[in-house]
Amino acid sequence: MVLKEAAKEYLNKKPRSNVNYLMGEMFKIKAPQSRVVSITSGKGGVGKTNAVANLAYALCQTGKKVLIVDADLGLANVDILFGLTPKYNLQHVILGQKRLSEVIVSGPGGVKVLPASSGVEELTNLNADQRKRLMAEFSHLDEAYDFILIDTAAGISSNVIYFNLAAAEIINIVEPDPTSFTDAYALMKVLSVKYGVTDFKVVVNNVISEGEAKELFEKLKLVSSKFLQINLHYLGYVLHDEKLKEAVRMQKAVVDAFPYAKSSRCFYQIVKNLCRIPKEHIDKQGFNKFLTKLLGRGE
Ligand SMILES: Nc1ncnc2c1ncn2[C@@H]1O[C@H](COP(=O)(O)OP(=O)(O)O)[C@@H](O)[C@H]1O
Ligand SMILES: [Mg+2]
Repeated sequence: MVLKEAAKEYLNKKPRSNVNYLMGEMFKIKAPQSRVVSITSGKGGVGKTNAVANLAYALCQTGKKVLIVDADLGLANVDILFGLTPKYNLQHVILGQKRLSEVIVSGPGGVKVLPASSGVEELTNLNADQRKRLMAEFSHLDEAYDFILIDTAAGISSNVIYFNLAAAEIINIVEPDPTSFTDAYALMKVLSVKYGVTDFKVVVNNVISEGEAKELFEKLKLVSSKFLQINLHYLGYVLHDEKLKEAVRMQKAVVDAFPYAKSSRCFYQIVKNLCRIPKEHIDKQGFNKFLTKLLGRGE
């Protein structure tokens, strides 16, 4: 459809000999810029993995191509939530034993998963050959995916910082309990003061009402605007939902198991909000930045 319009525009406006214009339009369509988004939190167990899995599944349903990078060394990971048992991981790619495409596994609804928790240490210590090979392998991802969602560990450990700095967009998940609030603040403080990150998206999880979520967000915004030079963008909320827990036990994303559950509706709304962000607010160099930050360390 877009291509048809481009062709029409070309025929109307451009001289017939100018094929560059049409080629340019086709190239744009073929090579989308992946949005690289990390989903992170100060405190563990606040719903990151569920957010990643559900947003990925819901994005796929809207026709987007999504890759999850599972970068959490913890146990309750994306593979378990999706009932997957990946044979290989990023480490095999780093060691040159597997291609990236052989390591990426298919999850439900067309979601792809890159098991990357093993291999993170090696990523920070690549030799020149390994870096070159990984750059080549990873650069194909930009053509293949609209979204690359990174499921990070919690806290302010070097791995968490590392992946958050590689991502062009950061979603900070926060829950109503006070420790989650202070830890969310602490993470943003480190990322902004030490590393110059200025923009954060916030999702408030496990609330009983939209009002509760908005109140918590406003509180976080107030505190951070007082003490930090950052912009907080409210991306949405997820209601506390027993159906989500039931889905976890079924090893499914709740949007897959119970599409009409109250938490599923919230995830769909967040996907809408995420896709509604104007293009000019999205870092066009996001994917290139991801590659250089992910693989460029140690140079
Ligand atoms: N909106 C929610 N409603 C009910 N329970 C939730 C919700 N979000 C998370 N949980 C519970 O918290 C647990 C931990 O979530 P998870 O996504 O694994 O957190 P994280 O990845 O941040 O450690 C889930 O298994 C589920 O039991
Ligand atoms: Mg997790």
